[in-house]
Amino acid sequence: SEKFPHMKRNNEFKKLSEQDIAYFKSILAPSSITQDSEDLETFNIDWLNKYRGQSKLVLKPSSTEQVSKILKYCNDHKLAIVPQGGNTGLVGGGVPVFDEIIVSMSNMNTIRTFDNVSGALVCDAGCILEVLDKYLEERGYLMPLDLGAKGSCHIGGNVSTNAGGLRLLRYGSLHGTVLGLEVVLPDGTVLDNLSTLRKDNTGYDLKQLFIGSEGTLGIVTGVSILAPKRPKAINVALLGLDTFDQVQAAFKRSKDELSEILSAFEFWDREAIKLVKEHLVAGANDPLESLHNFYVLIETSGSNKDHDDEKLNSYLEGLMGDEVVQDGVVAQDTTQIQNLWAIREGIPEACSKAGAVYKYDISMPVPVLYQAVEDMRARLVQSNAIGEGKLFTSVIGYGHVGDGNLHLNVAAQKYTTEGTDLIEPYVFEWTAGHSGSISAEHGLGASKNNHLHYSKSVSMIELMKRFKNMIDPNGIMNPYKYLPDK
Ligand code: FAD
Ligand code: MLT
Ligand code: ZN
Repeated sequence: SEKFPHMKRNNEFKKLSEQDIAYFKSILAPSSITQDSEDLETFNIDWLNKYRGQSKLVLKPSSTEQVSKILKYCNDHKLAIVPQGGNTGLVGGGVPVFDEIIVSMSNMNTIRTFDNVSGALVCDAGCILEVLDKYLEERGYLMPLDLGAKGSCHIGGNVSTNAGGLRLLRYGSLHGTVLGLEVVLPDGTVLDNLSTLRKDNTGYDLKQLFIGSEGTLGIVTGVSILAPKRPKAINVALLGLDTFDQVQAAFKRSKDELSEILSAFEFWDREAIKLVKEHLVAGANDPLESLHNFYVLIETSGSNKDHDDEKLNSYLEGLMGDEVVQDGVVAQDTTQIQNLWAIREGIPEACSKAGAVYKYDISMPVPVLYQAVEDMRARLVQSNAIGEGKLFTSVIGYGHVGDGNLHLNVAAQKYTTEGTDLIEPYVFEWTAGHSGSISAEHGLGASKNNHLHYSKSVSMIELMKRFKNMIDPNGIMNPYKYLPDK
């Protein structure tokens, strides 16, 4: 993994001393302080094994009050901090760059309240997404977001990255479903806005500033979120298609014919399925007979199984009849539903199995979405950089068609500067040239901060810096990331 070679430590930040440790020991239980170098490893290295920090201290507060004391102390003493949730982030945002103190939210995992009429759930930021969803399932509700990392990621991490995921097309983004937040500011102030109201037009909507701020403005300690009712009827179909034009045709028709019951429309390509098969991702068995250039996973969620079955069957018959799809299956039970989702959710893991994967998470108008993959492939083939013994092993495309969000992945045996230089800034220029965003859902972290100008104007970046300086004047919150360092 990289050690952020191009960066220099900001020496305005204090180095950790015995006195600092003594203070943390006075406010936290011994089990909430990690200093052992082996234990520190997992907190210092990111999910992709691409970024590695050198923190000597992890603090695991158990209450908002403890978070407040930690931040106030660090701010007073200019000690830099990285907030960390489940450490599943894909842009190097949740691990330190140098010796920042890691504040892990894993001990703050209590569900505070649930309103069975409105669906408003209030919980600690360190609750794991899947645990929350299980809790809601028992009560007939579900979390309005779902992602492959659900077993590890925290709701506080989801909010801080404004995670999108597999059902955004149905339930919308966290900017809409989060009802309120409790946030500790760098000076220790607790901003208590755990509202459970759906409507509240009293003043600036401050919570929106923290959603997607990646730990640069404060630590989210509590989340209030609106859970929808759990659909009674769920169907999942897998389609095999020849061209991306057919993927688009299937998408357009799904909006017409499945409309209100459509809850996911995901795609992946031939390279993706090859990797999933090669690496035998657990629980993911491709039920289609032959390999296809494109795959689409469609999910419907509704209240009446018979109605949904009828709509889905007539939609699929139409696609087959008009030869929009070459092959397809509909899951017959929960196990088959899980199997089809396991293929889709297993792609990130399969992509990283070669050793390293360069990840680009871009959004753009759907008609040019797959062209990004084709152009990248052509570029790397032309540079003689792909294949046995070359820099890269394959270029993979998958993602959330319904949201115009492509995951462009370039797999390699290892991360190299030559590799990065062949892809960047080309990929960002391509994206800006097609009116896209260089980060659709994963955020900026340490990997996209210096490329922000491809997606935001100078005046917008200036205003962002002013917000940052106002709320975190000492710059202790997740430094070296998010905003451009130049
Ligand atoms: P971390 O990785 O620990 O942190 C992420 C960022 O948030 C860091 O900058 C950190 O400093 C900050 N942070 C964390 N907690 C707090 C807090 N309480 N207060 C303030 N700042 C905080 N992302 C998507 O958008 N859609 C997907 O479909 C998706 N699928 C994924 C699938 C896999 C297999 C993996 C590994 C990742 C996936 N991701 C996806 C990326 C990642 O899971 C999300 O970004 C997730 O929301 C991160 O949550 P986390 O708790 O792991 O946060
Ligand atoms: C996904 O949609 O699978 C996630 O965003 C993770 C990834 O892009 O690999
Ligand atoms: Zn995604």
